[in-house]
Amino acid sequence: MPDVEIRGAYKKFGSNVVLNGIDLDIQQGELLTLLGPSGCGKTTTLNVIAGFLDIDQGEVYIKGKKMNKVPPYKRDLGMVFQTYSLFPHMTVYENLNFGLSLHKVEKAERKRRIAYAMELVKMVGLEGRYPREMSGGQRQRVAIARALVVQPKLLLLDEPLSNLDAKLRHELRIEIKRLQKELGVTTIFVTHDQEEALSLSDRIVVMNKGNIEQIGTPGEIYQHPKTEFVFHFIGKSTRMDGVVKSIDRQSIQVQTQTGLQVSADPNNIMGEDRRLQAGDEVKLYIRPEKISLHMAADQPSLDNAHKGMITQMNYLGSAWEVEVSLSGEAIQSLCPAVNPAWSVGSEVYAGWQSPDMMLIKK
Ligand SMILES: Nc1ncnc2c1ncn2[C@@H]1O[C@H](COP(=O)(O)OP(=O)(O)OP(=O)(O)O)[C@@H](O)[C@H]1O
Ligand SMILES: [Mg+2]
Repeated sequence: MPDVEIRGAYKKFGSNVVLNGIDLDIQQGELLTLLGPSGCGKTTTLNVIAGFLDIDQGEVYIKGKKMNKVPPYKRDLGMVFQTYSLFPHMTVYENLNFGLSLHKVEKAERKRRIAYAMELVKMVGLEGRYPREMSGGQRQRVAIARALVVQPKLLLLDEPLSNLDAKLRHELRIEIKRLQKELGVTTIFVTHDQEEALSLSDRIVVMNKGNIEQIGTPGEIYQHPKTEFVFHFIGKSTRMDGVVKSIDRQSIQVQTQTGLQVSADPNNIMGEDRRLQAGDEVKLYIRPEKISLHMAADQPSLDNAHKGMITQMNYLGSAWEVEVSLSGEAIQSLCPAVNPAWSVGSEVYAGWQSPDMMLIKK
């Protein structure tokens, strides 16, 4: 039985449909992320699970029990809100103690649990501080400790890292993952950061305008996006437009607007209508890291290789971002290393494999 089940959740604010009948199962011990652009309904979904918001239609179950109309404090969960949620007039210790006293936990046990939670988030020694006397990262750690200290069955984290700088985000992300696995607590993590979702999650739910576009493991979402929206939301890509010349079970031959002949894989058609035939106009997408650059045309292992010219080179430290023009088609490539002789104007061959290209009917 799933830990959390959402069935046909529908929610309207005025005439604005914010959840359009979503279905979702969350398994015991799983770390599930809700990923999507601003306003797609992530916080609303979390609030519905937490019980801060009623749905107009549908059901929510936690551990098999129907939760509609059950107040938040009876749902046995810990939550970190999108905006800072510590009580400003309480010390760190008092912030952690607050929930425990509501739950009528006995004093010695409270002390023990607070000490343990402070250790988990590496904040031992700062118990006497007020929120204003701490950095953003420290406050977020305390907020996480406060959610954990009540030993919830379910942990709900709404963009807990969004106000932090890149380095601290990365550090805390790793810590949240470690903590979550150590405690085995079922967790729903909200983010609009694709890298965060890919690195943290057991499964990702991609949301768009109150609908679920796709649910899958990070690998499934990245390698096999079902819709154009999911493909664009996760990762970068180059787009080419073309016309299907021929199609069979093994391959699709497409001619691009600029005259390139490319071959694609029939398993990689996205969208609702996946039946293609010769003459159909399509959009082709390929991710930069799938395009390799070579000195010679002769690349027997690649089923697409085209001569081009480098039009831009950007050094990123761990890789190079290279733009190549293939008979007028601007292609982005991400290479771990480049030939030292290459510069803007150099002639190169860009290659990729058919299964690395996604296509969708126009
Ligand atoms: N109390 C409310 N009254 C009216 N509209 C609301 C209310 N709460 C949210 N909305 C609307 O519902 C939609 C979804 O909001 P929600 O907060 O779930 O988005 P989100 O995915 O969490 O976005 P963000 O990434 O910006 O936090 C938005 O269009 C928002 O304006
Ligand atoms: Mg939100």
